Amino acid sequence: MDPWKASLISCLLLTFLLFAESTSTSKVLDVNIICKEVENPSFCSKILNSKPGGTKGADLVSLGNYTIGVVFGNITNTIKLIKSLIAHSGKDPKAKSHYKECLSLIGGESGSLGEIIDTQKRFEARDYYGVSTSASSVIANIEYCISGEDPEDPPYPDKSNLPRYARFIEQVVDIILVISIFLKQE
Ligand SMILES: *[C@@H]1O[C@H](CO)[C@@H](O)[C@H](O)[C@H]1NC(C)=O
Ligand SMILES: *[C@@H]1O[C@H](CO)[C@@H](O)[C@H](O)[C@H]1NC(C)=O
Repeated sequence: MDPWKASLISCLLLTFLLFAESTSTSKVLDVNIICKEVENPSFCSKILNSKPGGTKGADLVSLGNYTIGVVFGNITNTIKLIKSLIAHSGKDPKAKSHYKECLSLIGGESGSLGEIIDTQKRFEARDYYGVSTSASSVIANIEYCISGEDPEDPPYPDKSNLPRYARFIEQVVDIILVISIFLKQE
């Protein structure tokens, strides 16, 4: 074969390999292997198994994408809840100021809502270190709302559903963090 032809073929082959690499799917891991790594494994398998179409053959990218969508929906619900708590805390200035603080921490652009949008963008860009950073900020902002930003101050004694919603989101984000660790290893 003449050298020109050989180099053309190797060039085509390289292009093909690069293309195959960039479109390849990620690893398929059993849900139990992922959920073993989180704080609450049974909660984790319940969430992942609720993925439409099931988890059989689902790769890490599709599970991660699904889980980010769950958190996004949960944050949207939580913002609605907080707005209604603000609207109903008329004669209780302490409650009103607590919930307003939570609205900016969770619903703000640099709060949990903004951070889950960033998580999604970084996940699509396969920047899994960035995913960990943004997903951790989702939790940090929720923690500030529930426990207060100053560890000296006692947390607001919240009797509403907000702490329960917050706990739910934290546990789903925990799954995203574990999936991004597995994806970093690929
Ligand atoms: C990611 O999830 C959204 C729904 O939250 C879905 O519409 C989209 O097709 C999913 N993308 C991938 C690559 O799985
Ligand atoms: C979070 O989203 C999941 C899935 O859409 C749903 O089953 C769950 O009830 C939601 N929880 C909250 C607190 O919004």
